[in-house]
Parts: sequence; C-alpha cells; structure tokens
Amino acid sequence: MRLINGLVAKTLPVVPKPLVRRVSSRYIAGESIDDALRVARALNQQGCMVTLDVLGEHVTKREEADQALRNYLQALETIAREKVDSNISIKLTQFGLKLDFDFCLGNVRRLVQRAIELGNFVRIDMEDTTCTADTLRFYEMLRQEFSNVGVVVQAYLRRTLADTRQLMQNGAPANFRLCKGIYIEPRELAFRDPELVRRNFTLVLGEMLRHNAYVGIATHDERLVWDALHLVDELQLPKSAYEFQMLLGVDEQLRDIILANGHRLRIYVPFGKHWYAYSVRRLKENPEIAGHVLKNMFRA
Ligand code: FDA
Repeated sequence: MRLINGLVAKTLPVVPKPLVRRVSSRYIAGESIDDALRVARALNQQGCMVTLDVLGEHVTKREEADQALRNYLQALETIAREKVDSNISIKLTQFGLKLDFDFCLGNVRRLVQRAIELGNFVRIDMEDTTCTADTLRFYEMLRQEFSNVGVVVQAYLRRTLADTRQLMQNGAPANFRLCKGIYIEPRELAFRDPELVRRNFTLVLGEMLRHNAYVGIATHDERLVWDALHLVDELQLPKSAYEFQMLLGVDEQLRDIILANGHRLRIYVPFGKHWYAYSVRRLKENPEIAGHVLKNMFRA
C-alpha cells in the first residue's frame, strides 16, 4: 500500500481538480471568510482555539501582496466583530518577502499594528530554507516594536537549536510555534532520519520551555505529545505557558484526548481561493491522505 500511496502522491498533479477538492475539503475551511468563520465557530464550541490562514504564498507582484494584506485585515476585523477565539498565521512570501524585504516589512507591520489594536496576535509561519534567515530577522525586528507577534521554527533543521537559543537571548520572552517542518530540504540543512527530527523536536522544546518562551507545540505525532507532556510535568508549568496546535481535519481523536486532559489546543484553519496548491502540498506530504484520493477515485 505504501508503494501505491507514494505513486498516487507523485501523480497528484494530474488528478482531476474536483477530486482533489473533494478529498481536501476536510483540511480546508472553504474559499471565503464566511466559510472560515463557520469552521472556527464550530471549533470554538468544541473547546479549540483557532488560527486562520488565508491561503497563498510566493507572490510575484506587489498587487498580490496588497491583496493578501487586505484579506488578512478583513480576517482580523471579522474575528473581532464576531468574537471568535482565533488569531492569524501568515506567510512572508505572501506579503512580498521575495520581492522586497522593506516592502514586505511595511505590509506586515500594518497588519501587526491592526492586530494589536484589536487585541489579536500574528504568527509568522516558517517557509523553506531560502526564507529562514529573513523570517527570523523579520521576527526580531517586529518583536522590538510589538508584543503580539510570534514565529515558527522547524525541528528538522540542523540550525534550529542555535536559532532558538539566539532568539531567547534578547528582550521579552519569545513566542514560538515548534513543528517538524514540511518542505523538502537538502541533507546538509535538515535531518532526514525521522527519529532524529523527533529527538531534535524534544530537545528544542525543552530549551524553549526552560527559558520561559511561550510555545505552540504543533504536532500530531503522539510520541512528541507524550514528550511535551512529560516536559510540562517535569517543569511544573502552568497550562497558560504553552498550547498544542494541530491542522484542521487531522487526527481528531488525538485532539479530543489532549482537550479532555485540560490542555489548550489551537487548530490551524486554512481557507481562501488558493486552496489547490495547498491541497497538493498536503496530499504529497502525507501518502496516507494520498491513499484517500485513491479510494475516492474508485468511488467516484
Ligand atoms: P508526522 O508527520 O509524523 O505525523 C504524525 C501522524 O499524524 C501521521 O502518522 C499521520 O497519521 C498524521 N498526520 C500528520 N500530518 C497529516 C496531514 N497533513 N494529514 C493527515 N494526517 C496527518 N510546517 C512548516 O514547515 N512551517 C510551518 O509554519 C508549519 N506550521 C504548522 C502549523 C501547525 C498548527 C501544524 C500542526 C503543523 C505545521 N507545519 C508547518 C507542518 C509540520 O511541519 C509537519 O509537516 C506536520 O505537522 C506533520 O508532522 P507531525 O509532527 O504531525 O508528525
């Protein structure tokens, strides 16, 4: 089955778009802010916090970055007006990072400024390694000015432990999301062995928690959830010092177990017009989902 799943993942680009949409509808709220709102409300009712992601990345024109800013400003206003328990997650390449650093900084600064006025928070997702240094620099600059901004670091990167230590040296406690990392990176830069990625995740998480950083522990890997709970217990941390984070539609059983034990948990809810690129990335990443595509193909 693994071989077939892998094959399906590779051939995904030729799978009909409506089929990809059907399979990925579980992982994406929909195209509009109303779709996102509906899903966020339902999650809030189940006891989950939310982070909204307006899908899109690697814009090539300034107008596209401006549009991203408008979309996110609208998301912030909607969250405030509708009193939804949600913050936002952004990708810097959607705000023009690859076009012009200062242009991008100006856009994101406006967003973070509006977020702070509305009592909200902005998480900067981490993209591939061509963006790592700039993203961390960006975070350093913004946190000197704002308290409502956090960044993601990836446990599969060899540099992450050093980066994390560096970020925790200066100023107010840092605010991280820690995840394994989703992009395909060269071996010089990223651990390939899944067990090493896990060990690094736990090592980095321990460093963060011991240094009073706030951490969004973003994983569906139950072994890592166990490690995290062990660390939290050992360090006797209050539940307000961390939160678990999961993707929409993934391992809802684990989500319920974490919630039932009284921990805070946030669901990453992607929505927007650029759902196709996101779906293909998710489906390629996880051959098990690709298997669902196969099953659906036969059912279709
Ligand atoms: P692993 O991949 O081992 O998954 C554990 C189990 O969970 C699998 O066996 C599978 O059953 C299930 N599972 C995992 N992912 C699934 C999926 N997509 N669909 C269905 N089942 C799935 N990455 C990044 O590079 N930059 C970022 O900014 C972010 N942001 C982010 C936010 C949040 C809230 C989460 C949860 C994840 C991210 N990621 C990310 C993605 C992350 O790097 C990683 O690729 C995935 O979370 C999968 O890694 P796990 O730790 O879940 O382990």
